[in-house]
Amino acid sequence: LNVMMGAARKAARSLVRDYGEIENLQVSRKGPSDFVSSADLKVEKTLRQELKKARPAYGFLMEEGGEIAGDDKSNRWIVDPIDGTTNFLHGIPNFCISIALEREGELIAGVVYQPLGDEMFHAEKGAGAFLNERRLRVSARRKLEDSVLATGIPFHGRDGHEPFLRELGVMMKNVAGIRRFGSAALDLAYVAAGRCDGYWEAGIKPWDIAAGIVLVREAGGYVTDYEGGNKLLETGEIVAGNDHLHQPLLRLIKSAHA
Ligand code: IPD
Repeated sequence: LNVMMGAARKAARSLVRDYGEIENLQVSRKGPSDFVSSADLKVEKTLRQELKKARPAYGFLMEEGGEIAGDDKSNRWIVDPIDGTTNFLHGIPNFCISIALEREGELIAGVVYQPLGDEMFHAEKGAGAFLNERRLRVSARRKLEDSVLATGIPFHGRDGHEPFLRELGVMMKNVAGIRRFGSAALDLAYVAAGRCDGYWEAGIKPWDIAAGIVLVREAGGYVTDYEGGNKLLETGEIVAGNDHLHQPLLRLIKSAHA
C-alpha cells in the first residue's frame, strides 16, 4: 500500500498542474466519446516507473498501455491513470488515480486518490478500508426507498443503451436518488465511505473498478457481477452495496431484464 500511495501522490503532481492548464493538453480520441490526453499518458508513465522501481517483476494492466507481462506471473498492477477523463477534460473536479494489486487472480489491495480534495482511499485485504487516516464503513441504510445510488451512463459509441434505460427505470421507481459522478473508481470509494448506499454499472473496464472493489469489500460491503458472482473484471458488470441492499439491488437489476 505504501508503494501504491507513494506512486499515486507523485503522479498526481503533474495531474494537478495539467488540470490548471487543460486548454494546453493534447487530446485524441480512442473511440466515440472516449478520449485520451497527454495528462493521462504522463500519469501512467510516472505510475509505471514508480511501481516498477519498487516491484520490478510485477506485470501491469493499464488503461492506456494495456497488458504488460512481468517475470512474476502471480502479481499484476491494474492501473487507471485518470478515472473520470471526461470530467477532467471539462474542468469538472471529480477524477482520480486508481491502482489495484491482483495476486494469483485475486484483488488484494486498492488505492483511489482524488488529488484535488486530497482524498486517499486505500484498502488491503483483511486490513480494512481507509480514507486518509479514517477507517471506512459502508452505510447502514436498510431500505431501498431511503438509499442513494451511483451509476454510470453508457455514452455514445458504447453498446447497451436499452438495457441501461430499463435498469434506470426500475431503480428510479425504487430508490431515493441516483447520481452520475463520472468516475467509477470514486463511485465505489463513495460506497465504501457510506456516502452512497450502492452503485451499479455495465460495460465497465477492469481498471475502472479493480481498486474500488477492494475498498467496498474491506469497508464491509458486497460487490458482485449481475449474476451475484465474482466475474466482475470479465463481464464488466458490477453491483455494489451494503449487506442490506446488495441482494435487493441484484433483484431489481434481474427484474429489469426479465
Ligand atoms: C469512465 C468512468 C465513468 C464510467 C465509464 C468509464 P474513464 O472511465 O469511470 O464513470 O461511467 O464507464 O469508462 O474512461 O474516465 O477512465
